[in-house]
Amino acid sequence: MPSHSPQKLHSRRLSNGLPQYSFAAQEKRPRQQPAFSWLVPVIITLPGRQPRTLKCWVINPFALARCGRKRACLLMTCLVLFALYFTFALTQRFGTKEKRWPRPPFVGHPPTLVFRRDDLAKIWLWEIASGHYPSRQPIPLELGLKFIPDNPSLPPRKRPPLAIAYEASPNSLPTNGFGPKRIYLDIQSEYDNIAYPPRPVSGSIADFDIVMEHCDFSQRKFVRDCLEVLRNGAGLDNGKRLRRGNMDDWKYIFLEANGTKPAPIAPREIVSEGSLTSSYFESPDSSGLTKKPGAPWEPPLMLSTSVPVRSHSRLSTPCDADYPRVFHMFWAGPFTDKPYMALLSFLYTQNCGLHDHDSHEHACRPQFWMWINPGPAASVPNPSATEDMFNELKSNPWASPFLHPRFKNVIRFKLWNTTEQLDGIPELKDEWRSLETLFNSGGRVINVPNKDSHAVSPKESDTETARLSMRHEHDDPIHRTGSKSSASYDRLSVILSDMARFILCHRFGGIYLDADTIILRDWEEVWGWKGAFAYRWSRLERYNTAVLHLNKGSALGTFLFRTALKNDLDFHPITVSRYLKEAYLEGLLLRLPDALFDPAWLNTEYLQRDRPLSLTFQKFFDTPMANSAAPQALGFDGFFKGAYSYHFHNFWWKPFDPSRNWPDLGPRFEAGELKAKSSPKVKASLEEGDRRDLDWSTVLKRTFESYIRGERPNMYGEWIKW
Ligand SMILES: *[C@@H]1O[C@H](CO)[C@@H](O)[C@H](O)[C@H]1NC(C)=O
Ligand SMILES: *[C@@H]1O[C@H](CO)[C@@H](O)[C@H](O)[C@H]1NC(C)=O
Repeated sequence: MPSHSPQKLHSRRLSNGLPQYSFAAQEKRPRQQPAFSWLVPVIITLPGRQPRTLKCWVINPFALARCGRKRACLLMTCLVLFALYFTFALTQRFGTKEKRWPRPPFVGHPPTLVFRRDDLAKIWLWEIASGHYPSRQPIPLELGLKFIPDNPSLPPRKRPPLAIAYEASPNSLPTNGFGPKRIYLDIQSEYDNIAYPPRPVSGSIADFDIVMEHCDFSQRKFVRDCLEVLRNGAGLDNGKRLRRGNMDDWKYIFLEANGTKPAPIAPREIVSEGSLTSSYFESPDSSGLTKKPGAPWEPPLMLSTSVPVRSHSRLSTPCDADYPRVFHMFWAGPFTDKPYMALLSFLYTQNCGLHDHDSHEHACRPQFWMWINPGPAASVPNPSATEDMFNELKSNPWASPFLHPRFKNVIRFKLWNTTEQLDGIPELKDEWRSLETLFNSGGRVINVPNKDSHAVSPKESDTETARLSMRHEHDDPIHRTGSKSSASYDRLSVILSDMARFILCHRFGGIYLDADTIILRDWEEVWGWKGAFAYRWSRLERYNTAVLHLNKGSALGTFLFRTALKNDLDFHPITVSRYLKEAYLEGLLLRLPDALFDPAWLNTEYLQRDRPLSLTFQKFFDTPMANSAAPQALGFDGFFKGAYSYHFHNFWWKPFDPSRNWPDLGPRFEAGELKAKSSPKVKASLEEGDRRDLDWSTVLKRTFESYIRGERPNMYGEWIKW
């Protein structure tokens, strides 16, 4: 738990590092009495799915010292005695009820591993051979590999890999690059269009090894510095670049050079080389690996042949069929302004071709697949569910704009059908029906009662008898559709979505985004990087899967589904972290820094507050008066520029724009606007009028909307053409 010096505590109370005083006398006071209040706050962060912070007030010893030594001693003794008595009394009174402290993750959990060492090595080799490991990071020695694997997506090194192996830590093994050379790009705006950043170069690739060097929280890198590197390297600092020292190693985006490939070098045995031998070679599972107790080993893995590796410049079309560019999002319940904002941010930032009617030749257009789970999480959709879904979307003002024919090539609505999805995963289809429940999260099982005719208990799910209306009347945890407040949290949908993201990525490829995500820049070079990834769980060395990329039908996916099946289909991100750690496969799912996808998380958890980024989750929707000049003056450009996305962590019940809480998209979409305005709540806010200070959430919404209305170009200076 982080403890803080009084100095730091003081600055924490001032949000943003900017003082909150309203007049001069107040401003002087803290300086005259530095850290001499009687109580000082200590912030404790509790771990968990939604990390919470606890503020405790403790007596300030410095303050006591001010009133003379003897008196202070007496007072201190009295206070300590009183505190002891008080604690004793409390434990007597309430001790039995709430004794348990939140357990740190992993401690006390039995191992999850069901694959032998041979199979783990097979998975690594399959992924490397398929070009899914474009990284210079060494691979674990625990795999028991007896040779240095060839890596087709890494350029050759200047020194032989064995020399590197000896220098590197004794616990890891390098890979031998034989891929195309990399040309690192210096991306800047062109003189005649300095107002906007350039679109990323088609086929460019982000070098996440370099990104990690600048952004890794474990290496004490600040989110703030990371974002500067991300902006500079991509030319997002158009027209605002200031001269600094050597920034050459900030270039993190590259193209693969043309030219003939060097041939792979025959694998070299390293067993005989001495220092790299280890006990891992001998026994299949006795050292380094711990099997899940009571479970048998999985039978030897039969993997398909690896995916052929092709450079972007060798493709005949801009899109590579093996690597579809699809953003997936999962939504349960009625469509609201949250998925609406995610879709608008997609249109505002990605290369959707909306500015041109015939430009699709040059770049690969991404698509957005919005998966709708129409009923409560534990229900089976009725036979007319697809039709019902589209009728519902048509009549919903937040959803209907995206059914416009102009968006038909980029936005798709899809019905989520749990049975059909689970059957679509070869690793699960024969076995998932024998499970007790599908709702298991971090070891906490939620049993959906079988007598409930709507429940997808695995055994019943084939009987399509359940009739479900789109709007369910019940609001108990099992019948909830979406979260209406922090109290009535739709837990089942959250658990289902934890699993859905893995299913969607493994089945279709692409990148999954949580529905509380706003995209902030073009992801071209992220698509270019062929490895699987998620991002870091704040300060913990675990995954958060709010952004997840797996390759279609990959060996890593096979591992995850087979392992999850033997662990009750638990896809809670912390459990997934255990699967991968215990199998030495963490290297195959890159844990990117928070700065890329969730730049406010560390600050919200009271980390890096000495060089903060001015925004926490709460302040996105309720920007405090002292900070609220910024959103309007800076606009979209001032919002975490450089990050790929912003994740606002739930807050489903907070409107983005309380005083104009309707889709404000102009005459083309007037019908929906009028419908939204007819609701009594919106009517009331209309009478109240617009607010003077706008929150960050509001500024983003109004920015995206003005692009759709044709009043401003998108982030890259392109105007929408209808
Ligand atoms: C590779 O060649 C193609 C055409 O053959 C060209 O369009 C592309 O720019 C070249 N790439 C590089 C990095 O030189
Ligand atoms: C859901 O999937 C199951 C199994 O594939 C299928 O029988 C059923 O018709 C599907 N339901 C809908 C509404 O598409």
